[in-house]
Amino acid sequence: MAKPTTRYVCQNCGAAFPKWAGRCDACSEWNTIVEETAEARPGPAGRAAAGKRVNFVGLQGTATPPPRAETGIGELDRVLGGGLVPASVVLVGGDPGIGKSTLMLQAAATLARTGKRVMYISGEESIDQVRLRARRLDLADAPLDLAAAINVRDIAASLEAEKDLALVVIDSIQTMWLDTIESAPGTVAQVRATSFELIRLAKSRGFSLVLVGHVTKEGALAGPRVLEHMVDAVLYFEGDRGHQFRILRAVKNRFGATDEIGVFEMTDRGLAEVPNPSALFLAERRGNIAGSAVFAGLEGTRPVLVEVQALLAPNQGGSPRRAVVGWDSGRLSMLLAVLETRAGLRMGSTDVYLNIAGGLRVQEPAADLAVAAALASAATDTPTNAGMVYFGEVGLSGEIRQVAQAEARLKEAHKLGFEGACLPRRVARSGRKLAVPDGLKLDEIGHLTDLVAAFTGKTPSQD
Ligand code: TYD
Ligand code: MG
Repeated sequence: MAKPTTRYVCQNCGAAFPKWAGRCDACSEWNTIVEETAEARPGPAGRAAAGKRVNFVGLQGTATPPPRAETGIGELDRVLGGGLVPASVVLVGGDPGIGKSTLMLQAAATLARTGKRVMYISGEESIDQVRLRARRLDLADAPLDLAAAINVRDIAASLEAEKDLALVVIDSIQTMWLDTIESAPGTVAQVRATSFELIRLAKSRGFSLVLVGHVTKEGALAGPRVLEHMVDAVLYFEGDRGHQFRILRAVKNRFGATDEIGVFEMTDRGLAEVPNPSALFLAERRGNIAGSAVFAGLEGTRPVLVEVQALLAPNQGGSPRRAVVGWDSGRLSMLLAVLETRAGLRMGSTDVYLNIAGGLRVQEPAADLAVAAALASAATDTPTNAGMVYFGEVGLSGEIRQVAQAEARLKEAHKLGFEGACLPRRVARSGRKLAVPDGLKLDEIGHLTDLVAAFTGKTPSQD
């Protein structure tokens, strides 16, 4: 007879231990470990059954690209890699209140309008609340099947009988509940068991499944890190509460690229797609101000221009402050050190504030040069050329290093009316010619001293 086994699982990271402890050894969180009982599954006559042979095949053979159902929301389809794949599972994570339910209701209703069978199961809001939202979003006429339920056994029974289902949205996985598990909804055990059951249904019935999940303030999906491994795609919906736009970012995608983003603007009628994010991010830029530089960035395959702002303020005693919004603070410290040591720009005892305007989080090292330009401009109180974009990685010796996709960045800058670009000097061995849009002036630099010289007016002392 198989015995039920008891183990202790951290609700934050999913690590399992044989003994209870006040603090999780794996993620160092306090009071997150709870007892879980797992039934060991007996084989026939109590023994493990002998396995069947697995068929092995060669790598060659016909592989048909998965058919996709476009949701009709272009920015979402782009992040998904071209639309929803049948029998695939997508996890949409994000902070509470960021707009996940709004986005998924819009997607579900838009897909339903194309004649596909779509179900929206809400465990957080009542039918009336969802209806009210649908009315506000002008989607009330969409032929969507709506239910308020949290019991996965009931949900499974209803879905099992369905044919030709295209999409099922579960909002949210943290409210789902299976009566065979003792712990409360939202715990690792429940999230794992309910997702497993729903995923099994999606795979066997062939519908696309979207699980909505809340994220903790540390950025991890509350409880279920385990979930990230079980699904085909993980999308994060993010944005700054104080800002109007939202970004959908793929962090895992078995059916598409992972660095793709979708940009939305929040309106009182729901989320509107933003096909040209650069224009949005630069909309409030004021030219000719010291401490501001435009970065020609790349998000996925899409070039995005954003404004980098730096402010230096005299330090009021104590250690100097370094405050960063939208960029990596470790990277800022590095850049300040390189600017000081390699290019002679003293900022060690001033407070430094850095902001990526608009609330976008920039992760590319290519932003180094734009940040350096903003800092140099602020330090010398000399505005950067407002018609110029910057991109390039900065190395520890102050050298400016090549970055990917220079052409796409230049094209976007030209499209938005910029006249010039400051970029890494081309190295002879790269061979390939750079296609430069007509009329765009290039300022190719090899070292930070070249950049700083443009602000101080001095000729660079070294190359
Ligand atoms: P909601 O979709 O409920 O967020 P989540 O499901 O991630 O918790 O959105 C939160 C609130 O913001 C809700 O009251 C509706 C409002 N909202 C808008 O008014 N317009 C929008 O475009 C979005 C996305 C949300
Ligand atoms: Mg919600």
